[in-house]
This record gives sequence, C-alpha cells and structure tokens, in this order.
Amino acid sequence: MAVIRTVIRGVGASLPKRIMTNQEMSSIVDTTDEWIAERTGIRQRHIASDNELTSDLGIAAARQALVRSGIDPVEIDLVICATATPDRTFPATAVKIQHGLGVTKGAAFDIQAVCSGFVYAMATADNFLKTGQFKRAIVIGAETFSRILDWTDRGTCVLFGDGAGAVVLEAQPQHGTREDRGILSTIIRSDGRYEDLLYVDGGPGSTKTTGHLRMNGREVFRHAVQKIHGVIEETLIQTGYTADEIDLFVPHQANKRILDGIARKLGVGPEKIVVTLEKHGNTSAASIPLALNEAFESHRIKEGNLVLMEAMGGGFTWGAVLVRW
Ligand code: UT7
Repeated sequence: MAVIRTVIRGVGASLPKRIMTNQEMSSIVDTTDEWIAERTGIRQRHIASDNELTSDLGIAAARQALVRSGIDPVEIDLVICATATPDRTFPATAVKIQHGLGVTKGAAFDIQAVCSGFVYAMATADNFLKTGQFKRAIVIGAETFSRILDWTDRGTCVLFGDGAGAVVLEAQPQHGTREDRGILSTIIRSDGRYEDLLYVDGGPGSTKTTGHLRMNGREVFRHAVQKIHGVIEETLIQTGYTADEIDLFVPHQANKRILDGIARKLGVGPEKIVVTLEKHGNTSAASIPLALNEAFESHRIKEGNLVLMEAMGGGFTWGAVLVRW
C-alpha cells in the first residue's frame, strides 16, 4: 500500500567559534577537567558571542542542510525551530530563520520541549508532511544555553553549550513497509509532575526575567535512563525491529554515563553510538541534529541505515524517532 513518508534530504550544523575547555571552566567555578570528563564525558563546549543569536546559528545550520539537500528555499513550506533560548519572547525564532533563509510561504513556528525539542519538532513535521498539508520542511534545533546558565553553579554551568543543527525533510511516496526510507515511527511523551527537577527559575509571565537553569542532576539522571529506555522499547515494538537491527544510535547528548547505561540495557555496541558530548557538551534541542551532522560528515551514516534518535528533558518531556536514512 502506497504511503507518504517524511524523508531526510539534508543535514547541517553551526557552532559558535569560541570554545571553552574544562580547564577554562575551572577558572570560573570550583571544578576540574577530571571531574567533568569522568562524570559527564564533556571536555569542551562552544559558547556564543554576545552578538551571536540563536537565530544566527539556526540560519547557518539550515543553510548548510538546504545546500546539501539540493532543495531551493522557495520550495520550503514549513520551518520548525526547537529552542528553549529564543532570540525574543516573541516572535518565534523560526519566523526569523524563515526570513533569513528567504522562505516566504507556508508556516514557521517554535517548539518548546527543551532537550526533547528536536524529537518533538520531528514528530510535528512528520505529521504535517504525512497528511499532505506541507511538502518540504526544515526542522532546526538551535540553542544559546550559555545565556540561561548560572555561572556560579558548578552543578549545571559545566554541562551545557551552544550550537544548532538542522535537517531538510520532504514528503515522498513509499511502499508502506518497514523497509521504506523516511520516518518510520515517532513517539513523544511528557509528565509535568517532574517540573521541579529541571526548570528555569524565571519567565515573562512570572518573574518578568529570563531566569537561570536549575537541576537536580541525580534525580534527572535516574529518570532519564528509565524513560529513554522505555520509549525506545515502545518504538521497537511498534515497528517490529530489534535493537541489534539499528545501524546507528543518535541520542541526545546529556551525559556519557546515561548513553552507556541505555546502550548496555539495549545491548547496542559502542561502534553504533554517535557521541559528540566531549566536543559540544549538552546543547539541548541542538544536540541530536549536531550529532547527525557529525555522523554524516564522518561518513558513519549512509542511505538505507536505520537510525534511532532519542531525548529527555525538562518538563519532563521525552521521546524517540526511528528513521531510515
Ligand atoms: O539534558 C537534560 C537532561 N539532563 C541530564 O540528563 C543530566 C542528568 N544528570 C547528570 O548528568 C549528573 O547527575 C550530573 C553530571 C549533573 C552530576 O553528576 P552526579 O554524579 O550525579 O553528581 P552529584 O550531583 O551527585 O554530585 C556529586 C558531588 C557533589 O559533592 P558532594 O556533595 O558529594 O561533596 C557535588 O557537589 O560532585 C560535586 N560536584 C562537582 N564537583 C566538581 C557537582 N558538580 C561538580 C563539578 N565539579 N562541576
């Protein structure tokens, strides 16, 4: 039976030039390279300059993805930006990116699911494309988390970085089998009971300020392993695949120990996991597309590969996307 699937046509990324190493971090807060590397896997992160906005990073990533896709910006009719660090409270950063790319038709909007934002945005775009409402989309994950960090809190400021990644998506007719190219499954979940474990203590509607990120790291860690593993199991059951059939595992990059824990539970070998933590830190909604880009540029991802993405973040929100590249 013929169906419409959402096929990934191109991927791109953008990182601020400035790199902050763990060594430099130890001159800001009471920490060491050893502690950060051992507990998280992070060695450095990129930090946006004052005049480098989330939209600038998003535009650069989307441009690269467009060039690689061979699709002209005038053919794009949907732009979704996943971000928790928008340029402004409104309008949506996606609309600014839409304009920056020269896209003038269709719709553009932001998605706010923090670190799960890219997974949420992929699920949203997939549903619009599959139903025929839009034909070609750009999904971007873009963040300048350095702006919402408390640079006196060593428990959080060492973890995050800035950056953006993007994919160009196209609705294409496929056969309706699990061998199809494109997105085969998306699952998104949330549970507001856990708000106080990971949040920003400000906002236009409460404090009228931006606020700073607050996290109970140990508790978030515990939930992350359980919830991510659960949603991956659901994805595998839904699509009839087994974990060893996955060619590439592209997880949200929060902590190397979380990735290792999930991989161990699934029985996925380290050669199948894309890890960018050591270079990027946790870039929230940007981490998965940045990792996809890294896998593409290092020729680890090939057409026909079965690629599993997953994320968990503030809210809590979590989810997974299974795609045949
Ligand atoms: O992307 C959204 C999802 N986010 C996550 O998934 C993050 C999940 N959580 C984590 O990755 C980890 O919990 C952290 C990396 C945040 C923390 O690692 P941990 O092993 O859970 O450490 P902890 O919070 O239990 O702290 C252990 C010790 C504490 O000292 P005491 O109380 O045992 O004396 C902390 O004060 O490590 C101390 N500590 C640090 N020491 C040096 C905390 N941060 C640092 C630091 N440098 N940067």
